[in-house]
Amino acid sequence: MSPLRTLLLSVACALAVSPLLSSCCSTCKTDTVAKQSLYDRLGGEPAITAVVDDFVGRAAPNPQVNFTRQGSAMPFEASAEKVAHLKQMLVEMIANASGGPQKYTGRSMKNVHAGMGITNAEFDALAGDLKASLDKFKVPAQEQKELLAIVGSTRADIVSGR
Ligand code: HEM
Repeated sequence: MSPLRTLLLSVACALAVSPLLSSCCSTCKTDTVAKQSLYDRLGGEPAITAVVDDFVGRAAPNPQVNFTRQGSAMPFEASAEKVAHLKQMLVEMIANASGGPQKYTGRSMKNVHAGMGITNAEFDALAGDLKASLDKFKVPAQEQKELLAIVGSTRADIVSGR
């Protein structure tokens, strides 16, 4: 293929989000749209940060989550600094797991949550808060499914209580 044709095809591919163009460019669609990471489909770091902010805002005061681990061996003092750090770690983790360029610099899920006695019901309540945030930001069903699967994959490392 000539370099000019390759360039023109790349431009058309970049625009293939338009249904009109994508319908006349099935090769591009397979090459470009199918390769778009979950990270890009979610809207990158700004979108992930907005979801994490809203989500932590719901989960922190939710008694069914018991975020501050009252009555457990590891009560958590939710100072503004600690909550800000937790949000930053969540953004890194979700960005990294969804295909973004970020590195996750936090601790392992097993180590962080060890001793918190988190139950399956608390984990489900947390996932429910995340779903509510995704609904609020009108994240489409497919992206919700993929993101909730990423979060769900941490369950075995996080749940330790009955
Ligand atoms: C009911 C379920 C959960 C509860 C009650 C909970 C609670 C907490 C608390 C209190 C901390 C702060 C610990 C500290 O700074 O010493 C923390 C840290 C963290 N949690 Fe969770 N968590 C839950 C589920 C999850 C899930 C599902 C994820 C990810 C998918 C997650 C990711 C993280 C991350 C990334 C950190 C920060 C790690 C770091 O500072 O190095 N947590 N969690």
